[in-house]
Amino acid sequence: MIETFETIVSQYRQNGGNIISLLQDTQDAFGYIPREAIDYFSQTLGIAPSRFFGVVTFYAQFRMRPTGRHKITVCCGTACHVRGSDRILNSLQIELKLEPEADTTKDGELTLEQVNCVGACSIAPVLILDKKVYGKATTDKIMKELRALKGPSDDKE
Ligand code: FES
Repeated sequence: MIETFETIVSQYRQNGGNIISLLQDTQDAFGYIPREAIDYFSQTLGIAPSRFFGVVTFYAQFRMRPTGRHKITVCCGTACHVRGSDRILNSLQIELKLEPEADTTKDGELTLEQVNCVGACSIAPVLILDKKVYGKATTDKIMKELRALKGPSDDKE
């Protein structure tokens, strides 16, 4: 982990000290921003941790918790909202047994996230499951895909 932090700091110095790029590189490397990364960057660069936390909490692209093995993104932009994305989101939260503040299942398999418009409004409501885009999504279709995803992992246990 430390070697990755060192590489990221080196790139940060070469790029003229852009905190957002530093955090993007960190998230690309780990899938989230580990607390240890902020501590390391703060000590190494002499920048207060609050500056990093300020950026991480301001931009929705950053997260401080690991993501699940699979990621479901529900578009909740206007067009998708009008066509029922909230119902799909609620169904998924129930199906995945997510706690009110949680976005990842307890087994670490699935992360559910919301975004505002993915630029495919003509096929709203839109849902993305592991980078595959589903247009005109319905709860039934998505539940079927989820069950297919969960099936093989259930067999391993
Ligand atoms: S609002 Fe969902 S794709 Fe635009």
